[in-house]
Amino acid sequence: MGERRYSVVEAGSGAALELRERSGTAGPNVLEISQLYRNQGVFTYDPGFGATASCSSTITYIDGEQGILHYRGYPIEQLAEQSTFIEVAYLLLYGELPNPDELAEFDLAIRTHTMLNESFLRFFNGFHHDAHPMAMVSGVVACMSAFYHDSMNIQNARHRDIFAHRIIAKIPTIAAAAYKHSLGQPFVYPKNKLDYCSNLLHMFFSVPPAPYEIDPVAAQALDLLFILHADHEQNCSTSTVRFAGSSGTNPYSAISAGISALWGPAHGGANEAVINMLEEIGDRSRIRDYVDRAKDRNDPFRLMGFGHRVYKNYDPRAAIIRRMCHRLLEKLGASQDGPLFELALELEQIALKDEYFIEKNLYPNVDFYSGIIYRALGIPKSMFTVMFAIARTVGWVAHWREMVRDPESRIGRPRQLYIGPAQRDYVPVDRR
Ligand code: SDX
Repeated sequence: MGERRYSVVEAGSGAALELRERSGTAGPNVLEISQLYRNQGVFTYDPGFGATASCSSTITYIDGEQGILHYRGYPIEQLAEQSTFIEVAYLLLYGELPNPDELAEFDLAIRTHTMLNESFLRFFNGFHHDAHPMAMVSGVVACMSAFYHDSMNIQNARHRDIFAHRIIAKIPTIAAAAYKHSLGQPFVYPKNKLDYCSNLLHMFFSVPPAPYEIDPVAAQALDLLFILHADHEQNCSTSTVRFAGSSGTNPYSAISAGISALWGPAHGGANEAVINMLEEIGDRSRIRDYVDRAKDRNDPFRLMGFGHRVYKNYDPRAAIIRRMCHRLLEKLGASQDGPLFELALELEQIALKDEYFIEKNLYPNVDFYSGIIYRALGIPKSMFTVMFAIARTVGWVAHWREMVRDPESRIGRPRQLYIGPAQRDYVPVDRR
């Protein structure tokens, strides 16, 4: 990539400082500041890292102004239209679209690693029935490091591959086990003959007394949602996986850290929060009140599913999911979700015409409509962020693999601007 010398004056010690500017394939250039403290005795300051590139990456590109999202250079719209989640998983992990043999081999590797060690099932019995599924999933994924000692040498390429196949194959089974535990229903074993999303629906909704018919429309809708949620550059949970992994910890623990970060309502937890918000609004006559509350700086309420650190335009994933809602709700005969979808459409229209949202570039993000589809598929709110985690596991693994092999990668250890007390002497308790 191109590089250019760049000069900044009067930083820290006062002498002119030369910083190297680097450009990538696309997007903003970066200024290399790693020598700044050594040469100038100053740190940069960027809470939330809104203007800080933490790494170089070849996986996903986002242009927030244009509403562009590419996985390994392929536009998300084309992948959504023409690909499958398993094929996208291969693309994100290995960088190229697979040929038919590569795809078949990868698909078989995933299908034949979906089972859990029976000991895992005993973990679930330790949770109360009302444990949040994200708590169960993040805990059980961390426990994988207690079992799979044969794939924990992060410098061994074969171990990295075994880990990738295992976690991608087993995360739906773990999610289904958490769901069944919350229902008090028996765990349903995966079937190797089913594709990734059909298997998930089978494990979620099969019950012993009655046959379960997998709806191909539902499986296809899930596959599309997983493609859209698979990766998103250096978002909070992916950065957490990279950060945890940078210490050299085992990959299962790094992924578990990512699941915990995703759970937050400002991040992946927003899909569950959107449905709670729509149900609380309840009627179109109350939309304006909630939009006004979202604009009130003294009110902590925010319009869930709106706004994004990077997209200052419509999130391309939200546009695809909204179109999906239109097509899917009648196909699935999910008429009971129609009113909620209508309410979401009306809320979007009112917000997008409001000066506050226009001025702050706040648009619907990936979480605004996804919950409506999950509900139409019969998936409860408490499982929405688990669904996000299943799909994003592919992106987390892809970024972890890239970080482990990146020669520039070092243990993450930011500095700070200290604003606490100056040095002072200890005072014994009897003199305070
Ligand atoms: C995801 O990073 C990723 O890529 C994430 C993700 C992925 O695929 O990994 O895309 C998935 O997490 C999507 C985001 C889901 N979260 C929500 O929908 C929660 C609601 N959104 C907000 O919490 C917020 O928009 C964030 C957290 C998403 C972004 O926050 P930022 O970038 O820190 O922006 P900000 O809080 O600085 O907001 C800028 C201004 C503020 O007003 P001022 O202080 O300038 O007056 O916009 C306002 C905010 O108050 N604002 C909102 C708002 N979002 C931002 N006001 C009302 N409602 C909102 N939703």
